[in-house]
Amino acid sequence: MLSFLVPAVGALSLGVRPAAVSRGSTVRMASEYLIAPSILSADFAKLGEEVDTVLAAGADTVHFDVMDNHYVPNLTIGPLVCKALRNHGITAPIDVHLMVSPVDRIIGDFADAGASYITFHPEATTHIDRSLQLVRAAGCKSGLVFNPATSLDCLKYVMDKVDIVLLMSVNPGFGGQSFIPATLDKLREARAMIDESGFDISLEIDGGVGPANIAEVAAAGADMFVAGSAIFNTPDYKETIDKMRAELATVPVPGKDFSML
Ligand code: DX5
Ligand code: ZN
Repeated sequence: MLSFLVPAVGALSLGVRPAAVSRGSTVRMASEYLIAPSILSADFAKLGEEVDTVLAAGADTVHFDVMDNHYVPNLTIGPLVCKALRNHGITAPIDVHLMVSPVDRIIGDFADAGASYITFHPEATTHIDRSLQLVRAAGCKSGLVFNPATSLDCLKYVMDKVDIVLLMSVNPGFGGQSFIPATLDKLREARAMIDESGFDISLEIDGGVGPANIAEVAAAGADMFVAGSAIFNTPDYKETIDKMRAELATVPVPGKDFSML
């Protein structure tokens, strides 16, 4: 609504909302942040209904955690479930977070199953650049996921091939863990790299995010927020998402004061 006041609006990020990130700028509005509930904490006995409910409650994107009991010590869901959600009528973007190794063979399966974004961990694939190219060639947005103690170094060589940088703020494998505070500095580092690159890349955060810390996480540079237990373990998803958006609305926009508008 007030986005006409924001200068230098770049190309659309992820094609779902007006510019979550402006090219070369950290300026964004509360309405441009993306909330991506992780269905890991949903009730799998009624998954379609759960996803319908959380989207109707104001979520933007479905975060879909794929674990293989090899790269991470847990086993979850695969392309069949992604396809089932599409067949159920889910049209929102599905953000497939691959915690599997190897990566390459499963990319096409998820693209065929209706994935919108496919992100993977650099440690889980032998040829990072090739895997990123495979994701885009399959028609999906591509992303790299960095574990809490994984350096961002490889990112600088593939900036032109990523649409999403996802920082893990917990060790991958389970929902319901506590946010690792050192991730805030890493978010600032990633935000600076993205802004300096000039590419239109979303900065996603995953793990231990909820109404209590989402503003701080946004202020550190994130624009896409995964939240599993913080949403699905509450009785009213809309109330929780509304709280998260209210917190995001308090995040200062550099150089702008909208308080009088
Ligand atoms: C962890 C997953 C997360 C997880 C987040 O490996 O990638 O998406 O579901 O759960 P919460 O929000 O409960 O920390
Ligand atoms: Zn995830």
